[in-house]
Amino acid sequence: MLDTRTIVHRFLETKMQVHPDVVRYLAEQGDPGLIETIIESIPKDTIVVSVKHIPGIIPDRDGSRFSADPRCEVVKGNNGASGYGGTVTDYVQYFRDRYNRLGSIVRSRCTPVPIEGLLRNSRYREETCTVLGLVIETRSTTNGHRMAELEDPSGTLPVLFHKGRPVFSDGETLIPDEVIGVRGTLSGDGRLFFADQVLRPDVPINHAPFTSSEPGSAVLISDIHVGSDTFLENAWNRFSDWLDDAEVSYLLIAGDLVDGIGVYPGQEHELTIANIYEQYDALGAMLSSLPSRMVIVISPGNHDVVRAAEPQPAIPPEFVGRFPKNCMFVENPALVSLQGVMVQMYHGRSIDDLISLVPGAKYEDASPMIAGMLQRRHLAPTYGKRTPIAPGREDHLVIDPVPEVLHTGHIHIMGISDYRGTLCVNAGTWQSQTSFQKQMNINPTPARAVQLDLQTLKPTVLDFN
Ligand SMILES: [Fe+2]
Ligand SMILES: [Fe+2]
Repeated sequence: MLDTRTIVHRFLETKMQVHPDVVRYLAEQGDPGLIETIIESIPKDTIVVSVKHIPGIIPDRDGSRFSADPRCEVVKGNNGASGYGGTVTDYVQYFRDRYNRLGSIVRSRCTPVPIEGLLRNSRYREETCTVLGLVIETRSTTNGHRMAELEDPSGTLPVLFHKGRPVFSDGETLIPDEVIGVRGTLSGDGRLFFADQVLRPDVPINHAPFTSSEPGSAVLISDIHVGSDTFLENAWNRFSDWLDDAEVSYLLIAGDLVDGIGVYPGQEHELTIANIYEQYDALGAMLSSLPSRMVIVISPGNHDVVRAAEPQPAIPPEFVGRFPKNCMFVENPALVSLQGVMVQMYHGRSIDDLISLVPGAKYEDASPMIAGMLQRRHLAPTYGKRTPIAPGREDHLVIDPVPEVLHTGHIHIMGISDYRGTLCVNAGTWQSQTSFQKQMNINPTPARAVQLDLQTLKPTVLDFN
């Protein structure tokens, strides 16, 4: 047997990820030479090494070993991919990783100066240069300007966004913990950096989305909330009937599968199924009656049984015994490739944070918040608000690569938008207005599904009300 970690590391050295089926096979073979043969034989731009890349090298011995649909691959967010941290070192490592990952995207467009060097070396005074840092604080000054404190591994720097300059609006939209580059000049006394331009990691302006060469169709949904007394069973049954005849290969569910137990005070009065196992069993029965030819990709949300801190692990086996075999359980977030079309699944808890940070944002239209994620290339850019984050060695919430589709849910209001070629789908819900939403004056748009043509990336909204 070969150590699975050794196998994964060898592929990572060549900048490739490797599918668990391939790892399992190589571990059993115990031949390190086989890994090298595979690396040499596959295209250098391969992101995930899967069985389909290596026919002829790996014999499909019993014909059933690699039974998963090869056209649906979990690129990121495989069950168990995110460890659990929580110590002080992990926070430091987490933010360093975030800085490094997002920083490297910004660095492709500029050559930043380390903050310590900028402050120490007088040759930078009053000369235009760029710094790259994590935003640790923002505020307005008494004169109406915006200030931000920027931090890189070498030091911190106060940055001023002058109210009379176009860059002021960039200062207004800065979010704590996002990573930005700032072009500008250091004041003569070396105490303040005047911003001229903000460089966000962002989606490249010439981003051309990939489309499948073969026909294919996926349906995106979220927030089923099975077990709630507002779950719309009849609408779900109409959806289920429609799927029987529809040519759909993939069904993606972006969290809040069930309503859960004890998620909010008084929830027990609004449940028709008060047992968490029975809630998942009911969903398992619903999914079992859908066509078994579909691959169903399931990631959790804040109402599900796993820990709330993101990345959330996949739904554990003890809850999904009644689910059909065509289900794949992934983490939240997860990046899946459907015939090469990358879909970034994320439940969307951070929309609750972004709504208070993006000027003018409202729940009826999530598109500015979703665009805000893509501009910052991060699914939950700010830390310590309503979105709990489990800091690990790696920041799994970074958006990289740029997906063709960003599939979110959580706010229960369906919306479709486009940000620089990335299709943003907020999938709505299968739950009618709850008493809490009534209090908050939130009007959900339930019983919708979004069908995606993988050849054209054209979305179609289906209404099962
Ligand atoms: Fe929900
Ligand atoms: Fe949610």
